[in-house]
Amino acid sequence: MRIIRTKDYDDMSRKAANIIASQIVLKPDCVLGLATGSTPIGTYKNLVAAYENGDLDFSAVKSVNLDEYRGLPRENDQSYFYFMHDNLFKHVNIDLANTHLPDGTEPDSDKACTEYEAIIDSVGGQDLQLLGLGHNGHIGFNEPNDEFDKLTHCVDLQESTIEANKRFFASVDDVPKQAYTMGIGTIMKAKKILVVVSGADKAQIVKDAFFGPVTPRVPASILQFHPDVTVVADEAALSLVK
Ligand code: GLP
Repeated sequence: MRIIRTKDYDDMSRKAANIIASQIVLKPDCVLGLATGSTPIGTYKNLVAAYENGDLDFSAVKSVNLDEYRGLPRENDQSYFYFMHDNLFKHVNIDLANTHLPDGTEPDSDKACTEYEAIIDSVGGQDLQLLGLGHNGHIGFNEPNDEFDKLTHCVDLQESTIEANKRFFASVDDVPKQAYTMGIGTIMKAKKILVVVSGADKAQIVKDAFFGPVTPRVPASILQFHPDVTVVADEAALSLVK
């Protein structure tokens, strides 16, 4: 695991975007695993700027997103479908037919998850998977559990995750209670993994996840077993580790 310590959020965003950009340059038809949440927004802004400068071409890039709320229509501005369009897809020349998210509008969760896993396989799996880190150590929506979930599945969101995400909704009652998410096994199959983390509020979980024991109680800790992980984190997020 490589840890890149950055000065602040902007520095983290630029360095993370550089890693994704080099992936696209080296393999123009790469499969990017993409993430939502507030942390990667700056990374996407830098990728859009690189595209606008003529340094990046997304025309052959394929993408698979980590997760999606169950039951939110795509046009809801809190759906991850909306987020990806708003923060990245509509600003670059990616072919929308090559972008994939779990279908949160599919009420049959077995169907939604099996189909999504098949889509990931059909594009050849992620060359590079971008991840944020939840305060409880979740990646995608893989919440702390007794075991690591292998494949895309439907999860009941934890109270703490619902609380953390309520800032984006009119009220806590509007926050969806379930989501479809890639499993830990789906994430671990990515050839490379890039984790972005920022802020003092993530310092404890950074220490637990990347320097503590590997346990499904801290889902991100499994990343210690992946052969090619880069964590780009700012000083505040790394303040509890040497
Ligand atoms: C959500 C997403 C995760 C994300 C996490 C952290 O729960 N499903 O993929 O990593 O939030 O979000 P933030 O970056 O806003 O702290």
